[in-house]
Amino acid sequence: MSYEMQDENHKNKEVNFQEKLAEKAAHVEELLQKYLPDEQCAPKTIVEAMNYSLLAGGKRLRPILMQEMYQMFGGEGHGIENFMAAIEMIHTYSLVHDDLPAMDNDEYRRGRKTTWAVYGDAMGILAGDGLLNYAFETAVQAFTGCRTVEDYQRVASALRVLGFNAGIGGMIGGQTADIEAEQQSDPLTEAQILYIHTHKTGALIKAAMMIGAILAGMPREWKTELGQCAMDIGIAFQIQDDILDVTGDSGEMGKPVGSDAANGKQTYVTLHGVEEAGAEVERLSNEAIEILRRMPGDSSFMEDLVNYLIHRRY
Ligand code: IPE
Ligand code: IPE
Ligand code: MG
Ligand code: MG
Ligand code: MG
Repeated sequence: MSYEMQDENHKNKEVNFQEKLAEKAAHVEELLQKYLPDEQCAPKTIVEAMNYSLLAGGKRLRPILMQEMYQMFGGEGHGIENFMAAIEMIHTYSLVHDDLPAMDNDEYRRGRKTTWAVYGDAMGILAGDGLLNYAFETAVQAFTGCRTVEDYQRVASALRVLGFNAGIGGMIGGQTADIEAEQQSDPLTEAQILYIHTHKTGALIKAAMMIGAILAGMPREWKTELGQCAMDIGIAFQIQDDILDVTGDSGEMGKPVGSDAANGKQTYVTLHGVEEAGAEVERLSNEAIEILRRMPGDSSFMEDLVNYLIHRRY
């Protein structure tokens, strides 16, 4: 094949991937619309503030990862949509709280003013709380479609994974360590930075992938490898986020650059430099791809997605 043809093939593959990704994100938007809190059921302000952040866009990465794993493991059952909406609600709440003045103090997110900057701190806290609870309300409704004992067991297991990874053993634990580390003048140890990344970011990404696989009935023997693959993707994702906080463009990202520096945060980039950080993103991503290739089902979209995330600009 000539270089021109190879180049053309590569471009077509890239366009194809981007189209698929956009379709998948659009599907998540539809789901979020479907599960949106009812404006009649609570004071208008809180529902408005919840929907303001939830419908502001974003990559919708976690629900997409969940659905991909569900498909790769041959999922046919129900309940996946509830969990896809739920995990995006939890992720969005984590961002709403992460941006608060008491945390990262950021005023720009997903291309618009942050929730607290529009609705005030108190409403920012409540909107986050509202999204977290509404996420579990949405996920629990997956039980209504259960028919067999196995269906019930899968939904129960998915709920446990969601609760654990969103909570103190996962994202909240990581955010706590992240905030406490701001007070530390000594350089963070490798163990500290790894704890922060695996928990504040890795945990929800792992939950997304695990839940997809669990609802599809993943055979037990894949659990450890899938967990490893998800953690590789999660850590790489956070290191790339740290890189973009230095090298990114706030217009492209829809959130500020230099937020970490302004908060005196030590990140993978302050500890190792941009170049080494980029190499680590690649190493982890390649490790994840190796595992994906061994898994049952067609992993080609997942492989493209992981490669795309390495070079993402937002
Ligand atoms: C931002 O997550 C917070 C991190 C864990 C780095 P995303 O980069 O997935 O944010 P959205 O959902 O696309 O806005
Ligand atoms: C946040 O990490 C991870 C969360 C659990 C919200 P960051 O604080 O680096 O995320 P951004 O850069 O504000 O999106
Ligand atoms: Mg933060
Ligand atoms: Mg932040
Ligand atoms: Mg960041």
